[in-house]
Amino acid sequence: MIRELVPGGSDRISPTAHYTGYVWVRNELSHPALATGAGRLFYNALAPANAASVRLGQPHLEHYLLARHEVIDHLLTEAIEQGSVAQVIEVAAGLSGRGFRFTRRFDDVTYVEADLPAMAERKRRMLRATGEQAATHRVEDIDAMRDSGPGSLADLASSLNQSKGLAIITEGLVNYFDVTSVTAMWARFAHVLGGFPAGRYLSDIHLGSANENRLNRTAVALLSAFVRGQVHLHFTGTADAEAALRKAGFAAATLRRPDEFAGTLPHCTGRSARANHIIAASTAD
Ligand SMILES: C[S@@+](CC[C@H](N)C(=O)[O-])C[C@H]1O[C@@H](n2cnc3c(N)ncnc32)[C@H](O)[C@@H]1O
Repeated sequence: MIRELVPGGSDRISPTAHYTGYVWVRNELSHPALATGAGRLFYNALAPANAASVRLGQPHLEHYLLARHEVIDHLLTEAIEQGSVAQVIEVAAGLSGRGFRFTRRFDDVTYVEADLPAMAERKRRMLRATGEQAATHRVEDIDAMRDSGPGSLADLASSLNQSKGLAIITEGLVNYFDVTSVTAMWARFAHVLGGFPAGRYLSDIHLGSANENRLNRTAVALLSAFVRGQVHLHFTGTADAEAALRKAGFAAATLRRPDEFAGTLPHCTGRSARANHIIAASTAD
């Protein structure tokens, strides 16, 4: 259903970018020019399922998205303010407003959003429509699954300043790929980040914990229904995921649950903030 509603949607994952893009705008985390009619349509279509989920004591999809978005923003802000990071590549940025917000807030940060070509082209048009795109902010084509050559992360990163710290972000991506693809992608990220004086990787992830709770299962079921396909739960707990990140080449890796930030970040309370984790990994700094 969703595929047909999105002309030019690049694959089964891309329509979710319209939904999340609409959520960011609704919550003043983005510019109105980054919202689409498809996003509004999906949002309204999912509203009854969301309301039912909350009535059953399960997570609210919008609050869960806001919690993950806030934690990634928070950790990125810290890395920039500490002086470790001055460049960002947001892989699979979709219609997110993060690049727009961060380049307005930090005028010395270079922010490269990257996505599959059709989504990247759409984002370029939408950013132009804001009339407020910073000179330090751009959108590039990328396929996160590509090892080398044009459209690879390595190629994109070679255009950045090798003497300044780099952060790579993925949000709403890793659980759509199988474990082999994800660990290979992490190895590419770690390798590229290793070429910069400081390297940070921030991402959300759902775990298939041994003690997997109903909250996680509900959030995963909502995501699977949305992309009309499988959502992969690669690791059985935080230790497994952290070990896989270190094996991929990161010097340090920690998984944080959004509710650790309760009291600091507005949406990091309640059930919706316990449904997933945020990866904070680094190469060196
Ligand atoms: C769920 S959306 C998330 C968008 C954005 N990060 C957010 O949170 O609002 C997933 C995004 O992944 C992108 N994507 C899917 N496969 C990709 C790939 N192989 N390389 C780069 N981006 C990809 C889609 O085009 C889409 O924009």
